[in-house]
Amino acid sequence: MPGEETVAAGGAGPADRVADRRTGESPDGGTNGSVGARADGGIAGRAAAGRPVRLSADALARGELTVRGQVREASNAVLYCTITYEGATGTCVYKPVAGERPLWDFPDGTLAQREVAAYELSRATGWDLIPTTVLRDGPYGRGMVQEWIEAAPEGAELLALVEEDEPGPGWKPVGFAEVGEGRTALLVHADDERLRRLAVLDAVINNGDRKGGHLLPAADGRLYAIDHGVTFNADDKLRTLLWGWAGEPLTEEARAVLERLATALAEGASLATRLAALITGAELAALRARVTDLLSTGVHPRPGGDWPPIPWPPV
Ligand SMILES: Nc1ncnc2c1ncn2[C@@H]1O[C@H](COP(=O)(O)OP(=O)(O)OP(=O)(O)O)[C@@H](O)[C@H]1O
Ligand SMILES: [Mg+2]
Repeated sequence: MPGEETVAAGGAGPADRVADRRTGESPDGGTNGSVGARADGGIAGRAAAGRPVRLSADALARGELTVRGQVREASNAVLYCTITYEGATGTCVYKPVAGERPLWDFPDGTLAQREVAAYELSRATGWDLIPTTVLRDGPYGRGMVQEWIEAAPEGAELLALVEEDEPGPGWKPVGFAEVGEGRTALLVHADDERLRRLAVLDAVINNGDRKGGHLLPAADGRLYAIDHGVTFNADDKLRTLLWGWAGEPLTEEARAVLERLATALAEGASLATRLAALITGAELAALRARVTDLLSTGVHPRPGGDWPPIPWPPV
């Protein structure tokens, strides 16, 4: 279970402000001071029968949130939590705004809102690629709270580095990458329809950080994508591993989804109104323009320069 490897037992992390609050007064008088120790041994959030409890948006927004641990090596404060609501307990991630690392190209304190905006877009596509995400208060202040996804241990391989110049059947090429000692290898991703949908969603939300570690294949065969703080910039920031379809025609399904999005984003439509509370007017205008451009070119976006912008390391 990835949570076992990634949840730290120690307190130190990138979220200094949160760590400080932990040793000082937390808003609830310190009862949630267990950051850094996953006390439940990894079984919280599982029903008696051993199945994970799915958390509705209501449960995420209104349930009792208890911090159980801090995810190690994340750039921002990423807290593993339980939520109890109407007698059921499930697991979630809580990323408080106070634990967001400032970025030069995004206004401070806005990453949590962008995560929720990305979730809204994912819902509007009908593809539901992003786990349920809400904005709410928690022990370290306002933040985003998202359903925790247990990635299936036997989850399909979605990314690989290969020695050949061409990807094998079932794979799409991303680009050549330096792998040390002067050697290069071809980075490839699976030719998978879930990834292809995600590539379209990323183009729409202008995702600046689509890494492999943020693709979580679940036991039910669905693929979930996480970490959408660096999205919706008004400038082109698309940085992703999913370049395998660049320049290829969008599927008919994707075109139909984009048509629906264009309507849902029109001035006064309910999605547009909800987004206006999460991103700036210029960002909302740029979002509309990206949807219109995708529909008019009819192809997956191509990278601007010779090298596709990819996050490195890619996982
Ligand atoms: N909803 C979720 N379900 C399961 N695991 C999650 C979820 N959200 C975050 N994680 C875990 O926490 C890690 C860090 O979260 P995330 O990537 O969102 O934060 P970040 O601060 O942007 O980190 P990074 O530096 O990796 O970009 C993820 O790589 C994943 O292991
Ligand atoms: Mg990140």
